Amino acid sequence: MQIKSIGIIMDGNRRWAKENGLPRVEGHKKGADTLEKIARAVFEQGVEHMAVYAFSTENWKRSKEEVDALLKLIKFFIEKRLLKGFGDNVRFRFVGDLSLFDSPLQETIKKAEKINPKAKHSLWIALSYGARAEMLDAARASARGDAPQSEEDFKKLLWSADLPDFDLIIRTGGKKRLSNFFPWQSAYAELFFTDTLWPDFSERELLQIFNEFQNTKRNFGK
Ligand code: IPE
Ligand code: IPE
Ligand code: MG
Repeated sequence: MQIKSIGIIMDGNRRWAKENGLPRVEGHKKGADTLEKIARAVFEQGVEHMAVYAFSTENWKRSKEEVDALLKLIKFFIEKRLLKGFGDNVRFRFVGDLSLFDSPLQETIKKAEKINPKAKHSLWIALSYGARAEMLDAARASARGDAPQSEEDFKKLLWSADLPDFDLIIRTGGKKRLSNFFPWQSAYAELFFTDTLWPDFSERELLQIFNEFQNTKRNFGK
């Protein structure tokens, strides 16, 4: 069965830096390299949608130094990697409370969202994203308008309205939790947890996971 949509919780950058005797930011930089490599591999497999957790609502609680370094890296990554090196086949979508970012980063995001609107593949980047904040926002929108009468109508109120259900979710870094990651799309996703730290995650391991997914019978409650 063709895998259409996947989610990735890219965890373990700081532990990778520590294990390699490097400053934290080097772990995040290596993590950005891994993201580029894995996105290419995922799209090569024909997957249409890949959503990655890059910065959560709760990550704002990290030290100012780390948050600043992460946001600087994210801006650099969008400008130098996404806008330059991905070709015409991939569209970029950003999901989260983007209003919390400074205007240069907001401008960079807007620029990236405009390119390749008809591309076959979409890379969704959760930035300043948290499911609870998303739900609260949807509840507020609902209270301002007519109450949604169907699941489909409710989904339209989510920040992630256009993101399809995940076939599978991968979390690297050894923790077995979702950390506020897209609950709507996760409802019937197969969950894969690996101890590999995100900067070390390889195409080989990705393909092993895809293989295992193919051997899983999905019931959807039936
Ligand atoms: C994931 O790695 C990247 C972000 C959350 C931005 P971490 O920074 O959480 O690294 P660990 O999990 O502490 O090793
Ligand atoms: C999840 O990782 C968020 C991202 C990968 C951006 P965290 O490291 O923030 O999650 P917790 O704190 O281990 O749950
Ligand atoms: Mg972590």
